[in-house]
Amino acid sequence: MQRPKPKIAIFASGRGSNAEALMHAFERDLLPAQLALVFSNKPQAAVLELATKHGYPCACIPNEGHSRQAHEGLVLETLKQAEIDHVVLAGYMRILTPEFLNGFKSQGGDAIINIHPSLLPDFPGLHSIERQHEAGVVVAGATVHHVIDQVDAGPIILQGSLEVRGDESIEELGRRIREEVEHFLYPRALRLFLDRRYAEKSQSPQNQKALL
Ligand code: GRF
Repeated sequence: MQRPKPKIAIFASGRGSNAEALMHAFERDLLPAQLALVFSNKPQAAVLELATKHGYPCACIPNEGHSRQAHEGLVLETLKQAEIDHVVLAGYMRILTPEFLNGFKSQGGDAIINIHPSLLPDFPGLHSIERQHEAGVVVAGATVHHVIDQVDAGPIILQGSLEVRGDESIEELGRRIREEVEHFLYPRALRLFLDRRYAEKSQSPQNQKALL
């Protein structure tokens, strides 16, 4: 009998361009998993509209008005109800506490992964694009990594890089990191993670090629 597909929740707080790149990959059947939930902590986040447009279940629990502990408790309950196996952070602007990571694990959840717009371990934390721009780096990029209880420090799954043009603004560099690196990197990294985790090639060779 075929194993049921693992259930994924995407967490995002804003624009959602990475979330949408992942939605496209799910729709092209490139990921051996089910996108079971798109979650935001911001009711106005564009990612919720995108998820609705694409027909995915959405949930929003605003963090405002809740203590961190209470908010995380509600989020964990939502993940439990939806039987989520893996959380994919795509611009989720909240640090997850060790209690949340342990809570997710103890209710049967598995890994949480994140995308960060720099070549980790360089430039972890906030404003990494601005800091790379200011530092005059010649090569910038993005990293998909496992989430642990230290910010942007978990084991790396995949990285992608680009050459920085001397004359571009911070906004332009950020746009290129997203559009030229992240939107290709995240579906591939998630695919790699799932293939390793479940050690089976449930997709046709043609689909595997499509992500290369
Ligand atoms: C991306 O640059 C990602 O690396 C970072 O947050 C940004 C989210 O952008 N974690 P978007 O909402 O996916 O467009």
